[in-house]
Amino acid sequence: MIPRISLRQALADPALLGGVLDGESWKPWHTLLIAAMGEELTQDERTVFKKFTGRDREPGRRVEEFVGIKGRRAGGSYAGGKVVIPYLAGLCEHPSLVRGERGVLLCVVADQRQADVILDYADASFRASPVLSQLIEARTQRELRLNNGIDIEVRAADYRRLRGLTFIAVIADEVAFWSSDYSANPDDEILNAVRRSRVVEEIKRRKGTPTADHLKLVLSVIEGPRFPSKDA
Ligand SMILES: Nc1ncnc2c1ncn2[C@@H]1O[C@H](COP(=O)(O)OP(=O)(O)OP(=O)(O)O)[C@@H](O)[C@H]1O
Ligand SMILES: [Mg+2]
Repeated sequence: MIPRISLRQALADPALLGGVLDGESWKPWHTLLIAAMGEELTQDERTVFKKFTGRDREPGRRVEEFVGIKGRRAGGSYAGGKVVIPYLAGLCEHPSLVRGERGVLLCVVADQRQADVILDYADASFRASPVLSQLIEARTQRELRLNNGIDIEVRAADYRRLRGLTFIAVIADEVAFWSSDYSANPDDEILNAVRRSRVVEEIKRRKGTPTADHLKLVLSVIEGPRFPSKDA
């Protein structure tokens, strides 16, 4: 993924995402998302960053995964829908997609209500920008199709339906509330399925052939230390 503009610049530009995270109350999300994209923070922002992460400095490179542990009504869907989706799908390039292949920005959600919330946020951000609005090709209940080869899709938490897609990014909304008739731990199954797909894409991009051992190794690096599972 190659940003065409930094997230900080996009959030300051009225023709792009300007105004979406303005004001003191949005400063934590503003700071954390910019840091997650690998961009540099100001000293003032580092104080905010430390308060929420316990770390002295931002990572300095784009993170593989961003995990937000938050309470209700904390702006999670807003940040994902209004900022992360339009930025990654509309303002970044995805050179690993081959000609004719569509990239999917997937939002996995707990239920239809959350699907509507997050897609409506994304839709509103695209339509508010004279630049991003030109990318909209079609909107359906589950999908925002862009004319740059990217589909933004919302899907219920069902890992069996995730095969065969090339993800440019995955937003997992309200993971703690996912449930499924087919799996005791849909969160683990789904997140591992999408991680695996990302790893395969990365290996292919480097012109390699993914093997089972290769996948296990890379997955263990990506996963890092895990929080105890809900059943623990
Ligand atoms: N930091 C904030 N500053 C201003 N408004 C906020 C902030 N955080 C949340 N809100 C507002 O609160 C409402 C809920 O936001 P959002 O739906 O993004 O929260 P959420 O974390 O996804 O909540 P839920 O757990 O209910 O899904 C929205 O109207 C949003 O604009
Ligand atoms: Mg939400």
